[in-house]
Amino acid sequence: MRVLIIGGGGREHALAWAIERSPGVSALHITPGNPGTALLGSNQPGGDADQTVRLAEELEIDLAIVGPEAPLVAGLADRLRAKRIAVFGPSADAARLEGSKVFAKRFMRENRIPTAPFEVFDDAEAARAFVRSAGTPLVVKADGLAGGKGVLIPRSPEETLAAVDRVLVDRAFGDAGGLVLLEERLSGPELSVMAIVDGRRWLSLPPSRDHKRLLDGDEGPNTGGMGAIAPVPGLDSALLDKIDREGIDAVVSGMTLRGTPFVGCLYAGLMLTPEGPRVLEFNVRFGDPEAQVLLPLVEGDFARLLLSAAHGEIDTGAVTIREAAAATVVLAAPGYPAGPRGGMPIAGLDKLPPDLIAFHAGTSFGEDASVIASGGRVLSLTSTAPNLEGALSRAYRGTELVRFEGAHYRRDIGRPPSDQRE
Ligand code: AMP
Ligand code: GLY
Repeated sequence: MRVLIIGGGGREHALAWAIERSPGVSALHITPGNPGTALLGSNQPGGDADQTVRLAEELEIDLAIVGPEAPLVAGLADRLRAKRIAVFGPSADAARLEGSKVFAKRFMRENRIPTAPFEVFDDAEAARAFVRSAGTPLVVKADGLAGGKGVLIPRSPEETLAAVDRVLVDRAFGDAGGLVLLEERLSGPELSVMAIVDGRRWLSLPPSRDHKRLLDGDEGPNTGGMGAIAPVPGLDSALLDKIDREGIDAVVSGMTLRGTPFVGCLYAGLMLTPEGPRVLEFNVRFGDPEAQVLLPLVEGDFARLLLSAAHGEIDTGAVTIREAAAATVVLAAPGYPAGPRGGMPIAGLDKLPPDLIAFHAGTSFGEDASVIASGGRVLSLTSTAPNLEGALSRAYRGTELVRFEGAHYRRDIGRPPSDQRE
């Protein structure tokens, strides 16, 4: 099997790691990849959709795996399928679950998927009137893709009004802000559940949790994710069954019913409220850094699992999930997320023990093929162990072994979250 992975971050390095270990894989290409994926397969130049389709044809790819959301929302999976290439990743129609928050919320309402009550506005005056009449705190969301920045959590009605204006009037998120979603603010710990879906059937992966805030104790600005664990301890099986039914199964069957079956990784971001689990968002691809903790727990033939799902006939027996725990700690560049600096050489990557993986995200090749820090989230230091404590202590050992100037990381990955985010 000849596989092409599209993307170049930590998630794609983790995908490449799992694909490279799969028995039937004869060639692995990554576009554009990064210095980490270069050790597992062959990096190909990055390009636009036309170039990616041409590359997949030239390389006679049997399975394309699309990592990030933007090309999925723009229709890359459809373009590849039109050339009869099997793709793990949803069509543009199905990717609207992530590409339009308004679409996702209306879909949830139609399919009775528990989520926060909401209203949608395209007119700033009407939105402001709703804010003034609302009796509860609101969250303000731009409709479209905004690189994870389109969710505003104001602390007062005045801030809520200003947030509405930022989205609809100032167009701070560009075209993503043509519509604004105002929804009730919920509270509780967050949880991510991901499933491999073939359009009809699915296999769910262990529940995971990322840490989105920059600083310990869930302080500081939101980031792409500073670390993650899987599975999340202390969840009972009745709760997980409920999430599988309401957060995954209802989506898979609802998408099929509307004629836009979902093929790919379905990611439900949930909040565990006192009234029960509520879906905050859907993503249509693996989480980053959640993939970095989930994929090391998958044993067996991951490539076969994804190929069978891409063909609409998921072979859930292709893999088993290890009874173990995984943790990843992100080493970020100085200045991340506001203004990350790059260009620092990374030392110690060659000193890692076999039970510690450094998934590359913001790295590039310097002179003499040395590896330098070049992006915000530079590395995800990942380990597995029989229990969470063990996985965390192994991952944290990586922060002593791998070094670059100005590196910073959270010291409380895996601790229970505080749900106070004032
Ligand atoms: P989303 O991209 O929709 O997951 O939102 C990003 C983050 O905003 C989530 O991980 C939550 O921390 C927060 N958030 C989103 N919606 C709500 C809500 N209705 N109530 C409270 N927090 C929310
Ligand atoms: N870690 C959150 C995301 O991938 O969207």
